[in-house]
Amino acid sequence: VVVMYVKYGVDDDTKGTTKNLKTIVIERCMEYIRAVSQMPSSNNCDAIWEGFQNSFLGKDPCKVHVEDYDQFITTVQQDIPCNKSLFWSKTGQIAHDFTKATKCFMTLEDTLLGHMMDGLKWCGQQHSKEFNYTSCPGWNECEFNPVRSFWRRASAHFAELACGNVMVMLNGSIDSPFNKQSIFGSVEIKKFDPEKISYVSIRVIDSLQDRTSCNSISLQDLGRILNNSRLDFDCKDIDKSEILQCINDPISQSCDCVN
Ligand code: APR
Repeated sequence: VVVMYVKYGVDDDTKGTTKNLKTIVIERCMEYIRAVSQMPSSNNCDAIWEGFQNSFLGKDPCKVHVEDYDQFITTVQQDIPCNKSLFWSKTGQIAHDFTKATKCFMTLEDTLLGHMMDGLKWCGQQHSKEFNYTSCPGWNECEFNPVRSFWRRASAHFAELACGNVMVMLNGSIDSPFNKQSIFGSVEIKKFDPEKISYVSIRVIDSLQDRTSCNSISLQDLGRILNNSRLDFDCKDIDKSEILQCINDPISQSCDCVN
């Protein structure tokens, strides 16, 4: 039996643009603005959609650059409160389950920008203003594909806005919990502003009991980068079961936003 994890119930095993992309994006946008109070009233989901599609339609889907989304990013207004930003790498499922259960932190995908595009695929083509519903480049097929450039742009923006104490959730079950090629390692960490960020809490989620990932070579790399950026931080190994427990029972005392 093959069980596929499908984000937000969007059935997208096609190779091209997600079916009904426009409807999904606009509905997610409207629903988000309705659900989240204190959203600036300047957000207009139709204008946001226009800005989004203008970023990549009519372009070769291997030549959509990170900067092509600059204008679009400015059409989405949202204040990210200090002390709330959670960054993650290879811990997508548990990090998102955690933020949904506890409301302690928010990930990029919990912001309007990330929420609208989460799990979706899109591309256009040269010499046409149509979407390509048949075939879009895969994540690694060419560097400057529309989806990858979007996530790099949105991630840079999210990291630039971060202030106060931030949390980073890494995966202690792999050889390099900190990977310089990941979006966290190549985009977000470079945008951390030491004038705005007071502290970086690195939490490595371990599934085995040894809990020593904070001493690993890859975490030493991360420590050096943070030191060079004059950012204060600590690293703690956390048992995966502790986070899962917290997700299942968010009001229990073991679940104190993972300090
Ligand atoms: N193929 C398809 N999608 C990929 C691939 C790939 N090879 N690599 C990354 N992605 C997309 C997926 O959507 C995945 O869920 O990027 C997401 C995160 O990838 P990870 O490697 O787990 O982590 P990382 O590259 O560090 O990105 C996560 O960036 O999205 C921001 O703020 C977010 O802090 C988070 C970080």
